[in-house]
Amino acid sequence: MAAFSHLSVMPNEVLHWLQPKNGGIYLDGTLGGAGHSRLILENTTDSQLIGLDRDPEALEAATATLEEFSGRVSLHHATFDQAGNILQGLGIEFLDGFLLDLGVSSHQLDTPGRGFSFQQDAPLDMRMNPLSGETAADVVNLADEVDLARIFFEYGEERYSRRIARKIVKRREERAIERTSDLARLVRDAIPGGQKPSRIHPATRVFQALRIYVNDELGQVARGVDVGINLLRPGGRLVVISFHSLEDRIVKHLFRDRARGCVCPPRLPVCQCHQSPDIKILTRKGIKAAEDEVAKNPRSRSAILRAVERLT
Ligand SMILES: C[S@@+](CC[C@H](N)C(=O)[O-])C[C@H]1O[C@@H](n2cnc3c(N)ncnc32)[C@H](O)[C@@H]1O
Repeated sequence: MAAFSHLSVMPNEVLHWLQPKNGGIYLDGTLGGAGHSRLILENTTDSQLIGLDRDPEALEAATATLEEFSGRVSLHHATFDQAGNILQGLGIEFLDGFLLDLGVSSHQLDTPGRGFSFQQDAPLDMRMNPLSGETAADVVNLADEVDLARIFFEYGEERYSRRIARKIVKRREERAIERTSDLARLVRDAIPGGQKPSRIHPATRVFQALRIYVNDELGQVARGVDVGINLLRPGGRLVVISFHSLEDRIVKHLFRDRARGCVCPPRLPVCQCHQSPDIKILTRKGIKAAEDEVAKNPRSRSAILRAVERLT
């Protein structure tokens, strides 16, 4: 594996909102290069860190990065929505903190063979876990036209979704679309004005949509945030960093629902559900990276951090 390069976003903000304590138990559901995990371990004594990643390459890198803390660390190849089962296997009931830094790492984006980027020619793969599931090529070559258009529209907010889907279906009747460069060219040709130079590549939204779909990223976020809140002890904190509005909207709504408690219809004069809030929202507005960080790490420009604290 090439050297793992990924600059952790908002390191100071993660420490500020997660507030890791000596002796606490923390779960990093998106280990990546383990930059955030390392911060938690360096800033506490006797704490324990459970790290998860669905990408075996990230686990390999994290194992090396966290070697000096190996007595306090337990790393697992798993998706973060499986955190409950992993903790059960370790005999851990509750956590003091749960961290999610969503999306792909720079390492995944920049490794041509992974097929995440239209900047490099590679097999159209895009699976964060290359050991299982459908590849982006499977989706592009097998999904019907209506489903393709829906994927591009829902997950990429692509206004030419139908036109692109039609073009893909027509093209694959001649030969399969197997490479990132094939798809990028095809999208560019399908979009009106796609040939003109522009600040963002015309295939950006289609690539984002396929990546989200192939990795069920939105389903993972919805389940992961719920699981994370359920696993916190009172006073424990969940911190989530998202990178696009689709993810952030899910996080924001889930936080709001769990912070509201009562789910009775507004027409009922008296609460009948007797549900009380189980979290307090700590960040009324999403927190953005500071300007100096954005200057050093352009990836942090789109990051939005939200945090909650478990009440009961
Ligand atoms: C943005 S990187 C995390 C970087 C990390 N915080 C650091 O400081 O180095 C996201 C990582 O989360 C992993 N990932 C994304 N979705 C996941 C999921 N549902 N379950 C487990 N890992 C996931 C990716 O494979 C990637 O390695």
